[in-house]
Amino acid sequence: MQKADEKSIRRYLSQNAQSIKIETVDIIDSTNDEMKRRAASGEKEISLLIAERQTKGRGTRGRSFHSPEGTGIYMSFLLRPDYTPSECTFLTTMTAVCTAEAIEKVTGRKTNIKWVNDIYIENRKVSGILTQSHFSSDLKRVEWSVVGIGVNITEPEGGFPKEIENIAGTVGNTVPDTKNRIIAEIINGVCHYYPRLREKTFRKGYSDRLLWRDGKIKVAQGDKSYEATLVDIDEDFRLKVKLTDGSEAVLESADISV
Ligand code: BTN
Repeated sequence: MQKADEKSIRRYLSQNAQSIKIETVDIIDSTNDEMKRRAASGEKEISLLIAERQTKGRGTRGRSFHSPEGTGIYMSFLLRPDYTPSECTFLTTMTAVCTAEAIEKVTGRKTNIKWVNDIYIENRKVSGILTQSHFSSDLKRVEWSVVGIGVNITEPEGGFPKEIENIAGTVGNTVPDTKNRIIAEIINGVCHYYPRLREKTFRKGYSDRLLWRDGKIKVAQGDKSYEATLVDIDEDFRLKVKLTDGSEAVLESADISV
């Protein structure tokens, strides 16, 4: 597969996205870790780092993210939003919509969003998002946020690792320049939605793609787990579920599965 390269990516960028800084590297521990280091040394927004391979790709909840060479997109945005800590949770949902829209536009395949940060195609996870933020010492403001995106384009040689072989899927490398085009469309989405994040104009795009709506799910919260029916997201992207006793609950954070 082609490597990510800045010149090709810029060919697909909309006018208002051209001002972002793009850097590509062959290998890194984690693009999120590197952007966090750069954020701490004063790097400005909007900056994007893309790696061909990560040796220590990070997922949510302390998991790792398999990041072999030549099969995926591994990249992180550095943003310095003028937000409160609670508002920066919308960066994840916004980026999920940007990624879903980019994959659909480039590949023509329908995507779903598994609450809160995973993109699925045909019931398989093809992309995940990890947002990490640093707050001011009085915890009133966000100093910086690093939003990392991983997309599986093709299956690694020898297949996915055992732990994810039943979940992981790929978007496919079926159109010319798939990788650079998906990267560019994600950037276009971020440059469109990020300046107006508070309007949450991406809410419909999220809700319309919500995976397992009306379906039975298993909810894991800390050490407890229970069954529920997935209803929808609320205005703030919390998950509305119906419990087995017929009551409704709104979840701020949880791990859901079927
Ligand atoms: C998840 O599925 O749990 C989130 C995965 C996020 C992976 C991306 S790949 C680029 C960036 N760098 C990392 O170390 N993680 C994110």
